[in-house]
Amino acid sequence: MGVSGSGKTTVGKRLAEKLELPFYDADTFHPQANIEKMSKGIPLNDTDRIPWLRTLQLAISDWEKGGVLACSALKESYRELLSKNNQIEWIYLQGDFETIQHRMSTRDHFMPPEMLQSQFSDLEPPSYGIHISITQSLDSIIEQITRQLSLPGTSQWGIIGMGVMGRSLAKNALSKGIATSVYNRSTEEEKEVIPNFLKETEDLAVQGFTHLKNFVSSLETPRKIVIMIPAGAPVDEMIDELTPLLRPDDILMDGGNSHFLDTQRREMILQQRGIHYLGIGISGGEQGALKGPSMMVGGSKQSYVQVKHILELVAAKNYQGIPCTAYLGPNGAGHFIKTIHNGIEYGEMQLLAELYAILRPSLNNDEIAQVLLEWKNGEASGFLLETTIEILQKKEGDDFLLEKVLDKAAGKGTGTWSAISALELGVPAGMMSTAVLERFISSLKEQRERLSKQLKVESYAVTVDTEKLKSAYQFARIVNHHQGLQLIATRSLEQNWKVDLAEVLKVWTNGCILRSELLTLLIPKLGSNGNLLDHPEIYNFLRQTESDLSEIVLLGMEQRTPLPCLSSSLQYWYSITEASSSANLIQAQRDAFGAHSYKRTDRPENESFTSNWDLNG
Ligand code: 6PG
Repeated sequence: MGVSGSGKTTVGKRLAEKLELPFYDADTFHPQANIEKMSKGIPLNDTDRIPWLRTLQLAISDWEKGGVLACSALKESYRELLSKNNQIEWIYLQGDFETIQHRMSTRDHFMPPEMLQSQFSDLEPPSYGIHISITQSLDSIIEQITRQLSLPGTSQWGIIGMGVMGRSLAKNALSKGIATSVYNRSTEEEKEVIPNFLKETEDLAVQGFTHLKNFVSSLETPRKIVIMIPAGAPVDEMIDELTPLLRPDDILMDGGNSHFLDTQRREMILQQRGIHYLGIGISGGEQGALKGPSMMVGGSKQSYVQVKHILELVAAKNYQGIPCTAYLGPNGAGHFIKTIHNGIEYGEMQLLAELYAILRPSLNNDEIAQVLLEWKNGEASGFLLETTIEILQKKEGDDFLLEKVLDKAAGKGTGTWSAISALELGVPAGMMSTAVLERFISSLKEQRERLSKQLKVESYAVTVDTEKLKSAYQFARIVNHHQGLQLIATRSLEQNWKVDLAEVLKVWTNGCILRSELLTLLIPKLGSNGNLLDHPEIYNFLRQTESDLSEIVLLGMEQRTPLPCLSSSLQYWYSITEASSSANLIQAQRDAFGAHSYKRTDRPENESFTSNWDLNG
């Protein structure tokens, strides 16, 4: 493309020869009226050009082998029209007015200056495609074009962002024989990232790029690209940069911990350009990404079907050999479920910290590890338990490394988002919320130190019945998972996602941080309403172990050891199994000071009452 006189026909013919493709001249598609107008030196306008471009657009669709077309395609709207249902690689022949006018006069090809001028006024240079300056020899123009031209790509998918997770995911895919292109920006600090990755992998099926355009061109169409960069603004910036390089039907995936509302917004924007968007919650940390993560997919089902084979190869497999990845619902569903996975993860981590807290006055870290090791192969087994055992045993010289770790727990946001969702939706997910708050308290280290000074609390050794401790732990874990699932179910209802909770649990059975035996045990107990507490085995287990948990919580109180998540699970259980709560008093208070009304136990619930509670009035 380019203005008349920029050399489109000459360059196009030579390029077609070189690529062994047919050459087409757009001028031969003009209707008679346009030809007459041009021959009189009258510039064409939009009305003249649109029917011509429509004819061309249809013609291009029929060129089975493709071809090289010389066409002015001056305006963005013209190029959009031609690109409809057609895959076009634009080559813009760039030259200024004087150069072209001079060329035309030397080539004895007369064009009235006003006609050339009108071409320049119509010209909207593309912000994409290959830009070639025409002030060079034909050979060098052809050489430059062929070098930059993206011939059909060969990689099955591409990964953007070679941080820990991106790198591990790429290695995982390569090890499964998936041809993969990788991209990382090449800033001063990151310029060695791609060269180092290529050295590390030395795999023929990998292609590394620091130029986004070349990366995109290296992919099979429709392109399948997964973004593995920090959530938030960087994802938006990357999408903005990528979008002009993508074509309708390409599939963009975000594998970071994005907020589900961001995912929904991004999907809507990309949908307008025909690009599919999948929000994929990926769990498992570095090792998971490398050996097989758990992947929670949300977005268009149609595009999921096209990436399913790749995701299933990359994902962890559960005990039955089933891949731990599934389509869980539309738009933000995958990322929301990952957020709640993390909320539950916060609860599970806090529970293990509480076990450590209750045991440490009487046992050293090795001994605590021994207690947990006993549980490692039974119903309490799981990734976080195993990790905790290793942490407890790790030494630095003669000392336990754990004792040198500052007791301020940080977080990157997903835990907080899960607690916010619980509040927004009115779901009593107290355990994950408590776990988030405990991290906040932990960071108030100076205040804790200051306020502890006058208390002089002596910690003393007590005998903890580790069987009861295990029951208490399992009790609290069931409540934690139940609360998380209720949160997913409520959001799913609100968003009409139709999430299948059993499918969610299956995806979590391996590869992710929540991986545990408990998940496998819970799947058949979900029942039709997804409420674990309605299952007789779960209900009986909680009923029978309630006293173990209360004993542990009481022990914590005697020792003055905070056990907020263990307590929270017990309090939740007390509340959710209490037929007549004390909330009648809350309603009465609301009515007494604000006339907010109340319902009566002796009247139907659709009736409201208000009373004068003032004893003197
Ligand atoms: C995972 C993890 C991972 C990470 C979270 C939590 O599933 O692989 O959840 O995503 O650990 O970002 O991190 P914070 O504790 O920093 O919030």
